[in-house]
Amino acid sequence: MAYEFITTRTEGEKVGIITLNRPKQLNALSPQLMVELGQALKAFDADAAIGCIVITGNEKAFAAGADIGAMATYTFADVYGDDYITRDWETIRSIRKPVIAAVSGFALGGGCELAMMCDFIIAADNAKFGQPEIKLGIIPGAGGTQRLPRAVGKAKAMDLALTGRMMDATEAERAGLVSRIVPLDKLMEETLAAALMISGYGRMAVMAAKESVNKAFEGTLADGVMFERRLFHALFATADQKEGMDAFVNKRAAVFKNQ
Ligand code: HXC
Repeated sequence: MAYEFITTRTEGEKVGIITLNRPKQLNALSPQLMVELGQALKAFDADAAIGCIVITGNEKAFAAGADIGAMATYTFADVYGDDYITRDWETIRSIRKPVIAAVSGFALGGGCELAMMCDFIIAADNAKFGQPEIKLGIIPGAGGTQRLPRAVGKAKAMDLALTGRMMDATEAERAGLVSRIVPLDKLMEETLAAALMISGYGRMAVMAAKESVNKAFEGTLADGVMFERRLFHALFATADQKEGMDAFVNKRAAVFKNQ
C-alpha cells in the first residue's frame, strides 16, 4: 500500500518495519499519519510470515508529539464529539504480535505515549523522552498519565508530567521506561536482532507471553485511560489550550490566564 507519512519494509521476510516519515515536522503525529500507522500495523499483524513488528523514526526524532498545528484550533466539541485519539491511536493495542519501539531522538508527548504503547522500547543513546503537554495547556491524552507511572513510578511520572522536562536515555533506562540503550548507529541492528529472535519463536507462545505480561498492567488501565481521555478532551474547552498551541505555532512565549 502507498503511504504518505510512513514507510514500510520487511527484514528477513519475518519482521515488519514501520518508519514514521514526516522528518521536517520531527515526525509530529498528524491524524493521517496515525491512520496510516494503524493500517500498516494491521497489515503486518495479518501477514502470516511476519512474527514481530518494529516502529521507528529517524535520528533526530521518533516523534515529537501529536501535531500541534492540527490540534491548535480543535474545540471541545471537535475532540469529544469525534472521540479524538480513541479511533486511530488505539489500533496498536489490538495488535497481537509483539511491537518494538526503536527510539532515537525526541519521543515527546504523543510520541512518548506511542512508544509506551509498544511492547518494549529499545533506545538509542541520544533518545529523549518527555510529556511536555503541560506547556501547551493540556495533559497527555493517549495514555501517558497511566502508562508512565506504571513504567517509571509516581515520583518521576509526576515530575515529567508537571514540569514538562525531558529525560535522557540513561535516566529512562534507570527508571525502567526502556529495556536497553544502544549506540545510535547500532539501534536498528540491535532492534532487528531482537525482532528476528522473537520471530523465530513459536507464534502462539509469543502471543501468549505478550498477552500475559500485559495482563499484569491492564486491569484498571482502561478506566484510567478513559478518565484521562475525557479530561484531555475537556481541556480543549479552555482558553489556555488555544493560547498554548497558538504560541507554539507562532513561535512566541505562551501567556496563560488560567481560564
Ligand atoms: C507540530 C512540530 C511538533 C509538533 C516539532 N514540530 N514538534 N509541529 N507538532 N508536536 C515542528 C516545528 O514547529 C518545526 O517546524 C519543526 O518541527 C522542527 O522543530 P524545531 O522546534 O525547530 O526543532 P528544535 O529546535 O530542535 O526543537 C525540538 C523540540 C520542539 C524540542 C522537539 O520542536 C518542541 O518542543 N516540539 C513540541 C513538542 C511537544 O510539545 N510535544 C507534545 C505535543 S502535544 P518549522 O515549520 O518551524 O520548521 C501531544 C498531545 C498528545 O503530543 C495527546 C495524545 C494524542
